[in-house]
Parts: sequence; C-alpha cells; structure tokens
Amino acid sequence: MTSVVVVGSVNLDAVTVCERFPAPGETVAGRSVSFGQGGKGANAARAAARAGARTVFVGAVGDDAAAETVLAPLAAASVDLSLVARTRGSTGFANVTVDASGENHIVVVPGANDAVTVDDGARRAIADADVLLLQLEIPQPVVLEAARAAREAGTVVLLNPSPVAPLPDELVDLVDAVIVNRAEARALADILGRVPRVVTTLGPDGARATGPEGECTSPGLPVQVVDTTGAGDAFTGALAANWHLPPSERLLRANAAGALTATAPGASAAPSVQQVEAFLATRAAQPPHAL
Ligand code: RIB
Repeated sequence: MTSVVVVGSVNLDAVTVCERFPAPGETVAGRSVSFGQGGKGANAARAAARAGARTVFVGAVGDDAAAETVLAPLAAASVDLSLVARTRGSTGFANVTVDASGENHIVVVPGANDAVTVDDGARRAIADADVLLLQLEIPQPVVLEAARAAREAGTVVLLNPSPVAPLPDELVDLVDAVIVNRAEARALADILGRVPRVVTTLGPDGARATGPEGECTSPGLPVQVVDTTGAGDAFTGALAANWHLPPSERLLRANAAGALTATAPGASAAPSVQQVEAFLATRAAQPPHAL
C-alpha cells in the first residue's frame, strides 16, 4: 500500500442545501444547514486514509472551536495529524451551497491555511512517503516548497490544481502527475503537455489517464447523486492511495471513490476500501448493457 503525505488546507464547511441557487441579489429558502470538516487537502487526506494508505496531513488550524470540529474526523480516519500547526486566529472556513441536483457553489476564507509551512518535520514526512499530494488552497510558495522537497527525496508529486490558478514553470516541472477536471484542463491546457501524467475527471462520464504507457479510461459509474462537494478530492486521495497499482486499476478505484462520495452529503464522505470493493463487485455482477 502507498504511503501518502498531503500538504494542504482544512476548512470548517458550513453546508446549506437549497432547491436552487439564488440569483445575484435574490434570497431563497434553504432546506438544511450542517457543519463539518472540509478543505481540499483534508478531504483528500481523509480519502487516502479511508482507501487504506498510511496518511500524514501537513496543515494548520486556528485556536478556535472549529479546530477540533475539523480535526476529529481526520483522527477518526487514522490520518496522522502530528504535523498540523495550531495558529492564532480562525480555522479555514468554507460557505458551501448545494442545490437539488447535488451541484455546489463554494466561498472559502483561508484563515489558518495561509500559515501552512514546510518545516523540517514536514520535509522528513515527505521524504519518507511514496506520494506527496498537493492542491492550491494554501499559498503557492508553500506548494512549491513541498514539491521541491519531494523531488529531492524521490517522492512522487501529484498536483490537483484546484482552485485553478496560473502555475509557475518550476512547479510544473516538479509535478509527476496532475489531476484536473474538464474546466481545469481547459484553463491549464498550455502546460498539461509538460507533465508526465495527466488524469482528467469527467464527472458522470468517468475519468481518463494519460502517461508513458498510453491512455486508459474508466467509465462513468452511475450513482444517486446527493452532493458532489469533495467528490474530486476523494478521487485524488484514492488515486494517491492506490498509486502502487497499474494505471487502469488505480483510476477505477479513484473513480469509484469519487462516485460514492457524491452519494452522501458533505465533503468528507469518502468510502472505505471495503465500500469501494463492494460497489465495484456489484457493478461487475451486472450485465454489460447496464454498465
Ligand atoms: O473541494 C471541496 C472543498 O472545497 C470543500 O470541502 C471546501 O472546504 C473547499 O475547500
């Protein structure tokens, strides 16, 4: 099994569910509100741990009550939190609105995520790991620093460039594989050709991976969508956790983890290894025309 380090964000997600999104200046009635752990880094770390990887999360929380709310589920998933810094001020916060189709709008206030650093402990963890998984919800110089540390140590660097932003050339050249959705692929089209491996999530159409071995695809896995928040993060976490497997096999498992995450509310509903295996076994038992 792969060992994974995630250097990234953790947020308190306030999730409001409504029938449809309000237009600018409009007020609509919501159905429910809930609070839970989110953040692209923490979601991916939790998904990697649930997928069976020994997982270390390098991040930062504030000195508020939200810190415990977001760390408890990560600890329960056996994510190593010994390199999470406690800073003065607020834990990262995300205002997530989900409509009846499961689509979302998200506003993030970074808070403590702006204080994430790559210290000696983080460097050691990166050097000891098989895979470093990064997103862009912490300051980009920190992302770059982590990627440099990984390259020096021979640790594989996976980057999910989300929220999408222009990438410095040095960072692009340090990345072994990039994981993008269709919009991110369009926005970063000019640099994707320089990255050895590109994994593209295709929403209901599954996922595609290109690399030195060629291209492989994983089909859409129809599920009852409740909330797509964090489905991409679960995909990247599961992909990292299964990095030791052949490209088509890890793509299938990541695809299943992303699909299953969308069947439950909240960003941190990543499935366990057993849940993924049961889901894939059910699908394999179905006649091909139903796939
Ligand atoms: O990708 C989903 C995540 O984006 C949410 O959990 C929210 O915290 C934002 O970081």
